[in-house]
Amino acid sequence: MFQSGIMLPQLEAGPVPPLPAEVYAERRRRFMEQIGPNAAALFVAAPVAVRSNDVEYAYRPDNDLLYLTGFPEPECACLLLPGHPEHEYVLFVRPFDSERQVWVGSHAGVEGAIRDYGAHRAFPIHQIDQVVGELVSSRDELYYRFGRDFEWNQRVVGWMRQWQQLRPRAGTGPVVLRDPATILHEMRLRKAPVELERMRKAAQIAAAGHIRALTEVRPGMYEFEVEALLDSTFRRLGATGPAYPSIVASGPNATVLHYTHNNRALAAGELLLIDAGAEYGFYCSDITRTFPVSDRFTAAQRELYQLVLAAQKAAISAVRPGARYDEPHRRAVEVLVDGLIHLGLLKGSREENIEQERYRKFFMHRTSHWLGMDVHDVGQYKQGQEMRCLEPGFVLTVEPGLYVREDCSEVPQEFRGLGIRIEDDVLVTDSGHEVLTALVPKEVSDIEAIRREAVTT
Ligand code: GLY
Ligand code: MN
Ligand code: MN
Repeated sequence: MFQSGIMLPQLEAGPVPPLPAEVYAERRRRFMEQIGPNAAALFVAAPVAVRSNDVEYAYRPDNDLLYLTGFPEPECACLLLPGHPEHEYVLFVRPFDSERQVWVGSHAGVEGAIRDYGAHRAFPIHQIDQVVGELVSSRDELYYRFGRDFEWNQRVVGWMRQWQQLRPRAGTGPVVLRDPATILHEMRLRKAPVELERMRKAAQIAAAGHIRALTEVRPGMYEFEVEALLDSTFRRLGATGPAYPSIVASGPNATVLHYTHNNRALAAGELLLIDAGAEYGFYCSDITRTFPVSDRFTAAQRELYQLVLAAQKAAISAVRPGARYDEPHRRAVEVLVDGLIHLGLLKGSREENIEQERYRKFFMHRTSHWLGMDVHDVGQYKQGQEMRCLEPGFVLTVEPGLYVREDCSEVPQEFRGLGIRIEDDVLVTDSGHEVLTALVPKEVSDIEAIRREAVTT
């Protein structure tokens, strides 16, 4: 506990407990039930990405494949065959290779795919072209998501061409390609209790990082030192690391929405915007806080900060089942526009500013996105022409902001170069909402109390 009464979340470090095999089996069962027995579905691993020459980026598995199988290795494909009497769930994996084990460690191989990941049948990945035809030949449809992997796309197109040619004589074979996202991403959007457990932990770990930054930042530190503090907190508490490149933006850098250079020295009197989330067990958090590098906000900083905070609270209070997805955004915009008119940064009425979107000069992004295995998580925001309604189990961010560029000559000098965003992760519950990231202070009085303690000790 700090003098200011702020608590760091009490978190146990340690490896992420695996999800039980039944969780994956149940997801596959629900997915297969929806695609039906005339379809097959193929999910492929994300490609390995080269960083430079012969060095690769740390491997991050594809979330659709992970969600259905838990299989974390590259060069993998999962084929689902609903209703197949012997093997509804087939994995294609890198075969076990003792030489590879020497260099990169253990990997499941064909036996491990069956033994550890529950596949009913498994093949070495290089055999997929030989066996896929027979496995799917009685199906009419193939669910496959054309994606970032050009080679897989080409391969599937090649199979489709073969099936087209064979079908007149064979009598069967896939003729339709469908996007599994319409079903699978709807499933991913609704978080189950085991997923919420991980999301809560991801939120708490990120909260710990933000609280440490809030209490340890001093004028003169570099943005990358703050980033290092976040990284080390995340890793020590069991996160894989940041869920996306952390934004540590001081002074005017905070007006750059996706600023990631993180190489400027923090100056007294300026604000620091930190947008950083942790990834824990493949689930993300996404938090933004903005606070003074010194011990208090200047008058102009405080005016804008309180406006963003009021907008964020109004937006969060709109999160409940049945509310439209864009209702929090609408509420945030109303509060921001009223405040900007009051401060003289916008002229005219609320209605005309909203109608003509004049506020976009200072608030140019949306208020919310889905959050889950991806930081900008999957799932439709609209259904047809209509914004969809929120449902229990959805998790979304609420993150209004105001950004006044340094060269914005039509506003008073004291507002120029200020960038403020406040972002929390919000779960839709049966009765309303739960803020998963509520541990991180955001009230002006709390922030100033912590900063006073920080810069004087
Ligand atoms: N950190 C990315 C976002 O807030 O959407
Ligand atoms: Mn966000
Ligand atoms: Mn963010």
